[in-house]
Amino acid sequence: MRLLVALALLAGETVWARAIPHEEFRARREALRKALPDGVTVLFGRAERDAEDLRSGFAQEPNFLYFTGWQEPGAILLVAPATGEAPAQEVLFLPDRNPDRERYTGRRVDAGDPDARAVTGFEEVLPVRSFESRLFRALEAYRRVYVLAGTAGAEKVRAMLPLRELSDATEAIGRLRLKKSAREIELIRRSVQVTIEAHRDVWRRLKPGLFEYQVVSTLVGGFLERGCERPAYTPIVGSGPNALVLHYSGIFRRMEAGELLLIDSAAECAGYAADITRTIPVSGKFTPRQRELYELVLQAQQAAIAAVKPGAYLRRGEPNNLTDLVRDYFDRHGKDLRGNPLGKYFTHGIGHHVGLEVHDAGKLLMAGPLEPGMVITVEPGLYIPEEGIGIRIEDVVLVTERGAEVLSASLPRDPDAIERELASRMAHGAIP
Ligand code: GLY
Ligand code: MN
Ligand code: MN
Repeated sequence: MRLLVALALLAGETVWARAIPHEEFRARREALRKALPDGVTVLFGRAERDAEDLRSGFAQEPNFLYFTGWQEPGAILLVAPATGEAPAQEVLFLPDRNPDRERYTGRRVDAGDPDARAVTGFEEVLPVRSFESRLFRALEAYRRVYVLAGTAGAEKVRAMLPLRELSDATEAIGRLRLKKSAREIELIRRSVQVTIEAHRDVWRRLKPGLFEYQVVSTLVGGFLERGCERPAYTPIVGSGPNALVLHYSGIFRRMEAGELLLIDSAAECAGYAADITRTIPVSGKFTPRQRELYELVLQAQQAAIAAVKPGAYLRRGEPNNLTDLVRDYFDRHGKDLRGNPLGKYFTHGIGHHVGLEVHDAGKLLMAGPLEPGMVITVEPGLYIPEEGIGIRIEDVVLVTERGAEVLSASLPRDPDAIERELASRMAHGAIP
């Protein structure tokens, strides 16, 4: 598998089609039929992007993508389990080709193509225009219709079936998505590895006087240079006081000696996100106070990672959750300038799931206990406005049978190791 991904990357192709074979998507659809055994599930892919906004390209709807791997717009998935009367059904609906549009988009696959089944991995591929009648037919054998509640797709189905109550598939699908397969974990490992290399590219060029946008440029260039399709989220590159803004998206500040630089940025490779944050000194050395606070964040992170195991919880309000663990740690260690505890300066949750989306499978699903095969972040931080200091350390962690594996462990977190690595990289100054 690793070889397959590497070969596809060497060939400069998008690795999606080959990184995950049709059989895995079929197995995911089978798991969906088991999870929702009493009805027809309908998922809509994204439509073509809004022609008025040319800033960003098409990105497939992640739930639809999870079950199909299909990257073209305007498609629909229908899945239904076997009943006494009817066999299991899996249908992919594709829009008809449009030669005018194809002058802009390039060739698209449609249901009439002789190789449509081989290309999509579906036994049944039909045109979108036959979706409604096919849905009605499928519903002769099933009581329920599952959709993603609150989406435009759900409204379309409601308009077709005004008298039927629709059921929500969001939670069942989220549960499937949160447990990663071996292939998904391997793809996340690759996104993490590329992200680590791009962070190191920044460390190599870091010096006072550098602008935030130059760091963003190095990160994004580093992701694409290594064969990944895009940043998994808008890079957060906050120098000095900008590190206090959790999702800071400015890029124009010049960084000064003596400041910290918070870099929360990661690649999306073959569809899978990483999510890594490091906070490093612009001139290569932490001041004593920066180091004191940094070490507290690092120790809190180590305590949280040590507590990651099946059955642990992320969110406040749940038993033995990691968010309260970290907040309590900050309350018991260190003080602000007025001698007060630090817990109140940890102003967000401890982490979230990572996968096809950087905040994977919706926030609601962070509620359940952790299970082996889940991939999460552990990201404590302290943001102290009075001191103009913001520090976050964020790693990607795989939940294992007994505990956790830190997938991003090879990017240094220890302050001495960071200073050493910055010293050697900055001294060599590979990038001016
Ligand atoms: N990069 C966004 C987050 O850490 O959740
Ligand atoms: Mn995160
Ligand atoms: Mn992050």
